[in-house]
Order: sequence, then C-alpha cells, then structure tokens
Amino acid sequence: MQPSPPRIVEPCGPSPVLCGFGGHLPEPVVTNHELATRLDTSDEWIRQRTGIAQRHRVAPGGATSDLAVEAGRQALASAGGGTVDAVVLATSTPDHISPATAPDVAARLGLGPVAAFDIGAVCSGFVYGLAVSASLVRAGVATRVLLIGADTYTTLVDPNDRTTAILFGDGAGAVVLRAGRAGEPGAVGPFDLGSDGTRKDLILVPNGGSRQRSRSARPPVGSDPRDDHVHVVGGEVFQHAVRRMCQSTRNVLDSAGWSLDDVARLLPHQANHRIATAVARRLDLPEDRLLSNIEQVGNTAGASIPLLLARTWERGLLRPGDKVVITAFGGGLTWGSAAISWPSPGPPEDPLGRE
Ligand code: COA
Repeated sequence: MQPSPPRIVEPCGPSPVLCGFGGHLPEPVVTNHELATRLDTSDEWIRQRTGIAQRHRVAPGGATSDLAVEAGRQALASAGGGTVDAVVLATSTPDHISPATAPDVAARLGLGPVAAFDIGAVCSGFVYGLAVSASLVRAGVATRVLLIGADTYTTLVDPNDRTTAILFGDGAGAVVLRAGRAGEPGAVGPFDLGSDGTRKDLILVPNGGSRQRSRSARPPVGSDPRDDHVHVVGGEVFQHAVRRMCQSTRNVLDSAGWSLDDVARLLPHQANHRIATAVARRLDLPEDRLLSNIEQVGNTAGASIPLLLARTWERGLLRPGDKVVITAFGGGLTWGSAAISWPSPGPPEDPLGRE
C-alpha cells in the first residue's frame, strides 16, 4: 500500500490575516561617499561587498520609538483606521533597558490601555513577532494586533569601525493583523523559528545589560570602550545566515505544503545582498524572485522585513493570494521564516466572515 501524503491540518479558530502596512525612515541619509570621507573604505568596496549605497540615521536625540510611532500610524491608516487590542514591538535597540518601548508607542498612537510589549530577537525579531501576534489572534486574545519592527543600530555602532558602520541603518516597518479566515488572501503562517545561543558571541553588544553594566554606570576594571558598541564577526555571520535562512525556508515550505515553484517572492532579511543571493542560489530559486531594498536602507535589523513588505505593498508588486516567504537571521543566534498569502487591497473583510 502506498503511504498516504502528509496532511496539512489547519488549526481551528480565527486565522491571522495581514491587513495593513507602514514604513518610516528618518530624514538624514548617510551615503557611502560620506562614510568614505572619515573611514578607510570606499563606495566601490561597500557596494560590491554588501549591495548598500546609503542608509538612514535617526536625528540626534531621536530614538527607536519615534520611528515606530510613525510606521505604526501608517500601518493603522492603511488598515482603514480603528484600534487594536495589542501592540507588539520587535526591537533590540529599545529606548531604555527598562521599561519596554511598546507601551510608550501605544500611548503616543492614542491606542488606550492595550496590551503592549517588546520582543527581542534582533534581526529575526519581526518574524518572531509575527508568530507571537498571529498566536494572539488564533488564541482569541486579540482580534487586531499592531506589530512593529523598529531599530536604531546607528546609535550602537562604533562610528570608527569600518566593518559595522557601513552596514547598519535606522528605520521602522509595521503591519496590522486581524482575525480572518484560513486561506483568504493575507493569511499568515505556518512559521519556523529557531535559535543557537552557543554562538551569541557572533553579534554582541557586551555592555549595558545585567552582565556588564555601561561604563558610566560602573566602570569595570580594564573595560574596553568598544564594548559599548555592537561587535559583529562578519564572515562567520555570513555563513550561518545563509545556512539557517535556507533551512528555515525549506522547513516552512514543507509545513505549508508549498514547493519552491509556488513561491512568487522570497523576502529575506536585508543584511547583505550577497547573503540574499547566496540563499537564492542554494535554494535554486531564480534571483528575480528575491525582493530587496538594501541598496537604499542598509541593514535595519528588526525593521528590515516589514520595511520591505511595506515597500512591496506600496508599489503593488504582488497580486492577492501570491505565495510569499519571509526569512530572517540575526543575533542570538536566532532565525525564522513565515509563509504569507499576499493580501488584497481595500477594506478588510468582516472578521467573522459576515457579508
Ligand atoms: N572597507 C574596506 N575594506 C574593508 C571594510 C570596509 N568597510 N571592512 C572590511 N574590510 C577589509 C577587511 O579588513 C579585509 O581586509 P584583509 O583582506 O586585508 O584582511 C577585507 O576587507 C575582506 O574582509 P572580509 O571581512 O573577509 O569581507 P567580507 O566579504 O566578508 O565582507 C561583511 C564583510 C561584514 C560585509 C560581510 O561579512 C557581512 O555582510 N557579514 C554579515 C553581516 C552582518 O553581520 N550583519 C548583522 C547581522 S544579520
């Protein structure tokens, strides 16, 4: 007897559906040429090795919440206004170590006393946040969630370190999830999430947490001022990123019952254009099915995928129901992927499916 094919079991209950997108980039633009005036680097090197031409930097005194509020406002407007039951903020550059930044964002958006919390999974934070937000909807805890990915890594990089200062930019992207029906355009999931804490050293900000307070709070003996900044072991990160995003994409395709041929577009975390093309090559996915905006924004960490989603939405690059996979990799190490059916424009359907 032939073994029966694997059966995809749809979880019961309301299904999480995307219904709004927003993105915000701060005004100041830092070009490669500008960086090359003060660092031992060049526009040619940065473009060839990373695909980045420019990045945005938060204005002096600005913070992650300022960008998150703007992106959140846009996503809510794109979802037709109204309120939400929860605000989830994926960030690893919160305004403060404590409290979380999401409650401040919710208050400034005038959303009232809604649930609001941060998720810290670095560059994978948006995918983790999407899985958590989708679970809130599925569990009936929320019928509408505002999920924002926002980061300001330019406040953490050592401006004199040419290996990191060229990579990172600031920004925020946001989506609104609502309770909907399984299989309708905009449906999100399944997900694949993973981590490997044994390699936390590869992307690390040594100071500022409970293990090693900031130098101004308590100068540790022999402390290195560079430990206030993000350290990245670029070459190793590159290899882990390619391997993990490929495997995670395959896992999510298996769970969704999709083949690679079904996938209209892959939206990978924008860390380095060479990482994205290596992922496509290893998956045997034609490069024209990759979406990218790294040239204009650099690596915006938790904002990377929602900014790319917002841009794709704004430009009308996909049709309702197109199968899309997002995949991310970041510090932790963490990684994650999600299957998305591209949403329809226009007013969202009634969450209970009433005509
Ligand atoms: N300008 C000019 N030369 C530079 C440079 C810069 N900005 N940064 C490094 N170099 C030099 C190195 O010193 C090295 O010189 P050497 O050969 O004389 O030793 C040479 O360029 C090659 O360095 P290498 O690190 O091997 O380059 P790379 O091709 O791996 O690119 C990264 C470096 C950082 C761009 C790349 O590894 C990367 O993108 N990694 C992942 C990004 C990341 O960590 N993102 C954050 C988490 S998602």
